[in-house]
Amino acid sequence: MSNEKIDRATLTFGDRSVELPVVTGTEGECALDISHLREKTKLVTLDPGLGNTASCFSKITYIDGERGILRYRGIPIEKLVEKVMFIDVAYLLVHGVLPTEEERHNFSQLLNFNSLMHEDMRHFFDLFPHDAHPMHILSTMINAMAAFYPNVDSKSLVENIDQATARVISIVRTMAAFVYKKSIGEPVVYPRHDLSYCANFLNMMFDSPVKPYQIRPETVRLLNILFILHADHEQNCSTTAVRVIGSAQVNLYATISAGISALSGPLHGGANQAVIEMLRTIQEDGDVDKFIKMAKDKSNPFRLMGFGHRVYKIYDPRASIIRRECEQYLKTIHYSDPLLDVAHRIEEAALKDPYFIDHHLYPNVDFYSGILYRAMGIPENMFTAMFALARLPGWVAHWQEMIGSQTKITRPRQVYVGKPLQTSDVFASKNPLLI
Ligand code: ACO
Repeated sequence: MSNEKIDRATLTFGDRSVELPVVTGTEGECALDISHLREKTKLVTLDPGLGNTASCFSKITYIDGERGILRYRGIPIEKLVEKVMFIDVAYLLVHGVLPTEEERHNFSQLLNFNSLMHEDMRHFFDLFPHDAHPMHILSTMINAMAAFYPNVDSKSLVENIDQATARVISIVRTMAAFVYKKSIGEPVVYPRHDLSYCANFLNMMFDSPVKPYQIRPETVRLLNILFILHADHEQNCSTTAVRVIGSAQVNLYATISAGISALSGPLHGGANQAVIEMLRTIQEDGDVDKFIKMAKDKSNPFRLMGFGHRVYKIYDPRASIIRRECEQYLKTIHYSDPLLDVAHRIEEAALKDPYFIDHHLYPNVDFYSGILYRAMGIPENMFTAMFALARLPGWVAHWQEMIGSQTKITRPRQVYVGKPLQTSDVFASKNPLLI
């Protein structure tokens, strides 16, 4: 790393001391480089959940969880949602700079040319149960893309990163819309060359031969904002999955499929669906305080979904924008959602409760996004798939960065706490093969 300040720290263990380099990132955060620690001391480090471990150098996204800052390639997300579209952000994440007009035009063309899914892949839909979760279908189908689009070794994809990015984000969008259409038994709607990325997705989701879909500019604008806000979030669980799996030099599609699987969990991207389910339960019950109490009770597994974050210790900056946009959009389209009122009541109660204050638990990106998706007509089981679509450029950017900078396969150590060598006779029979 060229322009980083290098310093040293001394670690003393028993009667031995070892000097370890300290590296400093662009924004001043310091990290102890322990990569040669075991060689020098036989010690490994232990950090379950990797909450205190920087697993790589990255130039893509910066988060300051204490100050609520999120920037892609140095640009605050607040500025990006005001000034550009999702495809510009996809380009930014992958290339490090926003596209010029010509680059934008070329990238749009690529998105258009790559928007058709291989027709043979449509047979996949016939094999899934009609109520299969979209995230399960997507992870399977994306993994299968390597078979339909061969020659996907890391080198060729990195060399043609625009093509790789366009194929992933364009085809997966088509796939996601097809998943929905199949689930409701309607004919699929093909992508159109004359629509922008987000408008095209909405059209594929909602257009029908018997009821043409009216694309509202405010809905397209909002979807762009939601997608921009979800586009990357540095080393979160799914991105880490992409980087770890990619380090074995598997193809890009397999890594994205792993990212989708990780994202589907309720503690990660699956939280946006879980929030709506929770809000509905609270609405039916009517007693907000009871659920606040349950969330604080350690003997109760209930957690306030959409609250808390590994990195943010104040209000998630994405949640602030989504909350504001949610209120505006609902007004604009004259739509009233009783769940928004429940969400406000929970937020109000939690933000003044000492438990939530002391634990630094604030609404995260998932708390209000589901209410917006509902207002746009997106069904609940598609919420996490929406998150996945938005996160695709982030995963591609991290995969590309990892391939370009990491030469080693990711392979952590462990502290073995199982049985020591079993010396007595542990086998039930002298010769089990003869039984
Ligand atoms: N409700 C109640 N208590 C909570 C919550 C919550 N939502 N989140 C954390 N806590 C408490 C824990 O019980 C724990 O308390 P303790 O220290 O007294 O035992 C403390 O806060 C720390 O919790 P951890 O689980 O250790 O925090 P971690 O950083 O590992 O987890 C996570 C972060 C998974 C997001 C957690 O806050 C959570 O489960 N939130 C609800 C699910 C959710 O909204 N996920 C989406 C996250 S955003 C995203 O992935 C896109």
